[in-house]
Amino acid sequence: MDIAMGFSRLDWVLIFLVPLLQLSDGLLHKEQTQITNNTHFDYIILGGGTAGIVVASRLSEDPHITVAVIEAGDFERNNPNVTTITELGVAQKTRVDWQYESAPLIFADNQSLEWSAGKGLGGSSLINGMTYIRPASSQMDLWPSIGLELDWAKLFAFSKKGEHFQPPSASLTALGASYQPFDHDFRGPLKTCISPLMTSGIIHDILNSTFKNLGIPPRHEFDGGELRGFGTQACTQDSVAEVREDAARAYYYPVMDRQNLVIMVNTTATRILWSPENPEGIAIASAAEVSSQNGDVSTIYANREIILSAGAFRSPAILENSGIGNPSVLSQQSIDVKVDLPSVGENFQDQTVLSVSAEITQNFTGFPPFVAHISLHDLFGSNTSSIFNSTLAKIPGYAATIAAQNGGASNASVQQHLLETQLYLLLKSNTPAVEIAPIVLNNLIFPVFWPLQPFSRGSVHINSTNRTKQPLIDPKFFQFDFDGQMAVATTKYARNFLTTAPLSGIVNASTITPSFELVPEDASDEVWLDWIKTKSSFQPNFHHLGTCAMLPKTSGGVVDNDFKVYGTGNVRVVDLSIVPLQVAGHSTSLLYGIAEWASEKIKRDGRNITVV
Ligand SMILES: Cc1cc2nc3c(=O)[nH]c(=O)nc-3n(C[C@H](O)[C@H](O)[C@H](O)COP(=O)(O)OP(=O)(O)OC[C@H]3O[C@@H](n4cnc5c(N)ncnc54)[C@H](O)[C@@H]3O)c2cc1C
Ligand SMILES: *[C@@H]1O[C@H](CO)[C@@H](O)[C@H](O)[C@H]1NC(C)=O
Ligand SMILES: *[C@@H]1O[C@H](CO)[C@@H](O)[C@H](O)[C@H]1NC(C)=O
Ligand SMILES: *[C@@H]1O[C@H](CO)[C@@H](O)[C@H](O)[C@H]1NC(C)=O
Ligand SMILES: *[C@@H]1O[C@H](CO)[C@@H](O)[C@H](O)[C@H]1NC(C)=O
Ligand SMILES: *[C@@H]1O[C@H](CO)[C@@H](O)[C@H](O)[C@H]1NC(C)=O
Ligand SMILES: *[C@@H]1O[C@H](CO)[C@@H](O)[C@H](O)[C@H]1NC(C)=O
Ligand SMILES: *[C@@H]1O[C@H](CO)[C@@H](O)[C@H](O)[C@H]1NC(C)=O
Ligand SMILES: *[C@@H]1O[C@H](CO)[C@@H](O)[C@H](O)[C@H]1NC(C)=O
Ligand SMILES: *[C@@H]1O[C@H](CO)[C@@H](O)[C@H](O)[C@H]1NC(C)=O
Ligand SMILES: *[C@@H]1O[C@H](CO)[C@@H](O)[C@H](O)[C@H]1NC(C)=O
Ligand SMILES: *[C@@H]1O[C@H](CO)[C@@H](O)[C@H](O)[C@H]1NC(C)=O
Ligand SMILES: *[C@@H]1O[C@H](CO)[C@@H](O)[C@H](O)[C@H]1NC(C)=O
Repeated sequence: MDIAMGFSRLDWVLIFLVPLLQLSDGLLHKEQTQITNNTHFDYIILGGGTAGIVVASRLSEDPHITVAVIEAGDFERNNPNVTTITELGVAQKTRVDWQYESAPLIFADNQSLEWSAGKGLGGSSLINGMTYIRPASSQMDLWPSIGLELDWAKLFAFSKKGEHFQPPSASLTALGASYQPFDHDFRGPLKTCISPLMTSGIIHDILNSTFKNLGIPPRHEFDGGELRGFGTQACTQDSVAEVREDAARAYYYPVMDRQNLVIMVNTTATRILWSPENPEGIAIASAAEVSSQNGDVSTIYANREIILSAGAFRSPAILENSGIGNPSVLSQQSIDVKVDLPSVGENFQDQTVLSVSAEITQNFTGFPPFVAHISLHDLFGSNTSSIFNSTLAKIPGYAATIAAQNGGASNASVQQHLLETQLYLLLKSNTPAVEIAPIVLNNLIFPVFWPLQPFSRGSVHINSTNRTKQPLIDPKFFQFDFDGQMAVATTKYARNFLTTAPLSGIVNASTITPSFELVPEDASDEVWLDWIKTKSSFQPNFHHLGTCAMLPKTSGGVVDNDFKVYGTGNVRVVDLSIVPLQVAGHSTSLLYGIAEWASEKIKRDGRNITVV
C-alpha cells in the first residue's frame, strides 16, 4: 500500500463525512463516529490528550499523510469549566474527568484515592492547574546515564519549539511578575504567560520576605532549568483572550480544517490488532479496535503506525489488552501473549500532595502564581549528610522489594542503580527536593507541597476481560520510609513557614491546621506521619508516569529511545507514561517538548517508508 492509495481511501471517507460536518460556534468539527469501520489511515493515535494532539498536529502538517485520533471523550472547546481562568479545579469531578479510583493504599491506612485525569480532546490539559514549569536541568542531564538520549539541552529546545510566551504587561510587572526572555520562545503554537489575573496586593512581598527569612532566595524565572527559590510561575493561559490554553486549543483548532486529520470523539480504543506477518518475531500492528459509546465495535486500519497516547493509566492497559505485557497478567484475562514484556504497567510513580492551612486577616483574589522550590539541604540543614547516608544504606533493601514485586521487569541491581541515581541527584544543591505552592485565596492560605522524588514504585494493570474498564491502579504510596521521612520534614517546614515573619503577621494562629494541640511543636516523626496518612487528606499530584518507561529493556523499559515498544515494528507510546522517573516542574512543559521530539522522530522514520 503506498501513500497515495492511503490518501485516496481517506477521500472516500470524506465523501461520507461531509453531510455530518457540524457548525459549532461558527466552527466546523469533523466528526464521524458512525462511519469509520474498516477505513484506513497512515497513523492512528489512540488518545487525543496532551501529547496525542501534538503528534497528530505535527504529523498532519504533511498533507499526503493521513492521521486519525481516537478519543474517548468529547470536544470541549467551549466548556466553561475548562476555559475559565478565574477559577481553579472546577472541571475536576465533572464529565471531563475520568475520576479513577485507586486500589487501597496498604501503606497508608488502606484508603483509596481518586485520581483525576482529563477526558476529552485535550486530555488532562483541559482540567489541569495550568502551571508551566520545566524540570531541573540537573535532573534531565542524568537521563543519559540511565540510557536515554534525551537531556536538558534537547528537552529545552523541543519544549521551546512548542512555546509562544506572552510577556507580562507593565502593570503585571509592577506586581512582581518576572521572566527571562532567553528561557522562553515566542513562535510556537502553545501560548504561555504569567496569568493576567495574578493575585495583587502586598501578599507577594510578604511571601517573598518570608521565604527569604527561611533562607530561600527570590527567583525571577522557573523555566530555564534552575528552580531553587521563590517567585512567580508561568502558566498555559492565553493572556489576551483570557482563556485556558489546552492542547487542543493550541495544536488542533487552528488546523482543524486539514482534510488529512480526522478526530473520532466519544470512541474508546480497546486494543491493537496484529498483522499475521511476524518478520523475525517482530509484532506488526495492522489496526486498532475501537468501541463507540453504545458498545459497537469497529476496526480502523493503520497503513504505517499506531501511536498510544492514552496517558499513564490507559496506554499500558491497551498494550496488555493487545497481548503485550507480563504473561501472568495476560493469562488471568485469557489474552494470548504477543510480546512477553513484563515491564508494561510497572514502575508507576506519582508524588503525594500535602498541605497545611490557615486563615489570614486580609482577603486576596486572583490567580495565585506563587511558587518556591527548596533543596534537600534547605529541608534538613546540618542533618542532610546523615539522612543521605542512612537512606543510601536502605536502598539495597528498597531495590530488592521493587524487584520482587515487578514480575521480572528488572532486577534488584538495576533498581539499586536507579534509586541511587535519584538519591545522589537530590544531594546536589541546585536540584529541588520539594515544590511549595503557597496558594492564597480570599482569606485563606494553604501552602500545598510535594516531595519531588518518591522512591515507592506502584503498578497499573488490567484486571478484567472488559477492555473499556479502568485498570487496577496501585500506587504503593509510602511503601518506603524515605518517602514518609520526606513528607514529615516537608509538612513541618510548611507549618513553620506559616509562623515565620512577616507572613505570621497576617496569619490567624489559632486556625493553623494541623493545630499545635493535635500535632505539638515537638511531636515525633511518628505522630506527624500518622497525621499525614490518616487525617491530612493528602492527594496524588496527577503527575502519574513511568508505566511505559523509556529505558533499556533490561532496566524495565517498555519503549526505546525512538518511543517504539520493544518487540514491535510499528507501535509507539507518546505520553507521560514514557517518563521513567519523576522530575521537578510540572509535567506538561516536559511532555509538550517530548511530544515535539517524538513527532520529529516519527516523521524522520516515515520519510523512508514508501511501501507498507
Ligand atoms: C487535576 C490535574 C491538575 C494538574 N495540574 C498540572 C499543572 O498545573 N501543570 C502541569 O504541567 N501538569 C499538571 N497536571 C498533569 C498534566 O496535565 C498531565 O501529566 C498531562 O496532561 C498528561 O498528558 P498525557 O498526554 O500523558 O495524557 P492525557 O492528557 O491525560 O491524555 C490521555 C487522553 O487519552 C484519552 N483516553 C484514555 N483512554 C482512552 C482509550 N482507551 N481510548 C481513547 N482515548 C482514551 C483520555 O480521554 C485523554 O484525552 C495536572 C493533571 C491533573 C489531572
Ligand atoms: C461544570 O461544572 C459544574 C459543577 O462543577 C457542573 O454542574 C456542570 O455540569 C459542568 N458543566 C459541564 C459543561 O460539564
Ligand atoms: C489493610 O488491608 C489489609 C488487607 O485487607 C489488612 O491486612 C490490613 O490489616 C489493613 N490495614 C489497616 C491499617 O487497616
Ligand atoms: C523579593 O525580594 C528581593 C530581595 O530579596 C527583591 O529583589 C525582589 O524584588 C522581591 N520581589 C518582590 C516581588 O517583592
Ligand atoms: C459525544 O457524546 C455526548 C454524550 O453522549 C454527546 O452529548 C455529544 O454530542 C457527543 N459528541 C459528538 C461530537 O457527537
Ligand atoms: C465493522 O465491520 C465488521 C466486519 O468487517 C463487523 O463485524 C462489525 O459489526 C462492524 N462494526 C460496526 C460498528 O458496524
Ligand atoms: C473576606 O471575605 C469574606 C467573604 O468572602 C468576608 O466575610 C470577610 O469579612 C472578608 N475579610 C476581610 C478582612 O476583608
Ligand atoms: C536535626 O536532627 C536533630 C536530632 O534529630 C533535630 O533535633 C533537629 O531538629 C534536626 N534539624 C533539622 C533542620 O531537621
Ligand atoms: C556520610 O558518609 C560520608 C561518606 O562515608 C562520610 O564522609 C560522612 O561523614 C557521613 N556523614 C555522617 C553525618 O555520618
Ligand atoms: C481483580 O479482579 C478479580 C475478579 O473480578 C477480583 O476478585 C479481584 O479483587 C480484583 N483485584 C483487585 C486487586 O481488585
Ligand atoms: C465494561 O466497562 C465499562 C466501563 O466501566 C462499562 O461501562 C460497561 O458496562 C462494561 N461492559 C460490560 C459488558 O460489563
Ligand atoms: C541485572 O540485570 C542487568 C541488566 O540486564 C545485568 O547486567 C546484571 O548482570 C543483572 N544482575 C544480576 C545480579 O542478575
Ligand atoms: C532513513 O533513510 C536515511 C537515509 O536515506 C537513513 O540515514 C536513516 O537511517 C533511515 N532511517 C530509518 C529509520 O530507517
